[in-house]
Amino acid sequence: MSEEMTVRLPTPRPAWQRSTGVVIVGSGAAGLSTAVHLAAAGVPTVLLTRAGVADGSTDWAQGGLAAVWDAADSADSHIHDTLVAGAGLCEPGAVRELVDGAPAAIRRLVRLGARFDRDAGGAYDLHLEGGHHARRILHAGGDASGHEVERALSAALRRAVGASGSSVEVLEHLRAVDVLTDPAGRARGVRVRQDDGTVGDWLGAAVVLASGGIGQVWPLTTNPAVATGDGIAMAYRAGAVVRDMEFTQFHPTVLWIDPARRVPGDRGVLVSEAVRGEGAVIIDQEGRRVMAGLHPLADLAPRDVVSAAMQAQMSRTGADHLLLDARAFGEQTWQQRFPSILAMCRERGIDPVTDPIPVRPGAHYLCGGVAADLDGRTTVPGLYAVGEVAATGVQGANRLASNSLTEGLVAGDRVGALLATAWRAGTLRPPATPTRPAGAGARQGAPGTARLLDPAHRDRLRAVMDRGVEVSRTAEALDGALTALGELSTGTGLDDSILDMTNLHTVATLVATAAITRTESRGCHRRADHPETAEHWRHHLCLALGPDGTPTVTEQPLGEAPGGTTTPHPARTLPVEALA
Ligand code: SIN
Repeated sequence: MSEEMTVRLPTPRPAWQRSTGVVIVGSGAAGLSTAVHLAAAGVPTVLLTRAGVADGSTDWAQGGLAAVWDAADSADSHIHDTLVAGAGLCEPGAVRELVDGAPAAIRRLVRLGARFDRDAGGAYDLHLEGGHHARRILHAGGDASGHEVERALSAALRRAVGASGSSVEVLEHLRAVDVLTDPAGRARGVRVRQDDGTVGDWLGAAVVLASGGIGQVWPLTTNPAVATGDGIAMAYRAGAVVRDMEFTQFHPTVLWIDPARRVPGDRGVLVSEAVRGEGAVIIDQEGRRVMAGLHPLADLAPRDVVSAAMQAQMSRTGADHLLLDARAFGEQTWQQRFPSILAMCRERGIDPVTDPIPVRPGAHYLCGGVAADLDGRTTVPGLYAVGEVAATGVQGANRLASNSLTEGLVAGDRVGALLATAWRAGTLRPPATPTRPAGAGARQGAPGTARLLDPAHRDRLRAVMDRGVEVSRTAEALDGALTALGELSTGTGLDDSILDMTNLHTVATLVATAAITRTESRGCHRRADHPETAEHWRHHLCLALGPDGTPTVTEQPLGEAPGGTTTPHPARTLPVEALA
């Protein structure tokens, strides 16, 4: 990786510099698993999180954890279901590693104190979800699985931090700005911004990005406010290959609130697929079933099929939402099976026991991200990526339900083990001398700095993505979106809103660039102007920062390492990070 292919954001001169073994960015399932592992191994580690520890996507996850538990199930069956959902773009080796590692990762979590739902006989209550051919999904608290994962891991980490001689520090409300690289291109730490506006450098021998997804790029999302693509944007600026960004999964049933009654800043509320699994159906305002006759699985068809059918129906009628009818459940089923969803709907004035729930598709999960293997290794030495921020090839072109928390746990364990082994072997040591960027600030427009984007245009960016880079895409709409993104103006300063906007703009541009390049429909990338899946497109699309500031787009054959034998791909590109 040449030095020219890294940029960083303009920042004031760092006020301080500290050093540790491993710097982890993010505190969901993947980041906490990594930290718990490193704490047990005594590796000096700092975990940074831009908000509170539990403010990320994991805590909100309603779906469960997929793993093979039952004698009637098999690893081959879980692998098969994952590969089918992934629509030809999964890396089979990574999928096998995930499936083989899942039961042990979940057992470790149970040893740390996680409690999953059990049946009357005391055995795990295993659920069936869309795309799975066996009961293999563990839930906790009915629809609060992610909360239990977050609770158990953060409690385990708190115990570790509280233990005498602890090697781990957890720092909340500390925003990672950029990955620091040395002149050889190796990751050497993270530049951070404190709430009071001061900037510092946390140096480390390894940096683990576990910062989640990009849902905030769209106006309606199931993701929390922190899902602004920070890890992907930082990795991209540091020269890492990012891939498969066009595979953005939209969830069909996100609660729609009448704009007149919307509370500014309110969260998006997912109404889990499990509600349809229990028998709820999507209807239009006249009470007609939307999915009837459109797919053999009707309301339980794959998410992209349901979302596209809903979007088409709304475009035909001009409706801004549809309805999810689960009135047949009655109060008791709602209370027992979906207590969190019931409470969140009622808090917003909708009672699913008596009324159909207003819903429409919303951004849910990014299958792409920073190209990495399941041990988290990216194309930048010393930089690791785990969980949703990473594209390991496990999720392919479409994620199988409940494979994501599982991936976070397995990958977190694996990178934790890898780094602990390196620490014990003496090959992972904090940088002895300050690295090149450490200690230096940079003003906007200085060589090697990226452009900051004006946060006043955040709603405009989201509207552009809603119109141009939605469930069903066309070249014309994507081209319009790229043009509009290119017109957004530069900002100054370095606060949370400008960092959000800059990172959102970077990831939005990467998604739109990949989506206009891939002229086929596959998995959750649907092109209305290219409705077929094409065999010659069965490869990853890699994006990396080019010398002129535009992303270079290359094809990566399946089974090969990113940055290996890739072939350049002509694409409409836009300077997402204008080099001065
Ligand atoms: C859901 O519960 O519908 C979402 C679960 C998932 O995305 O895996």
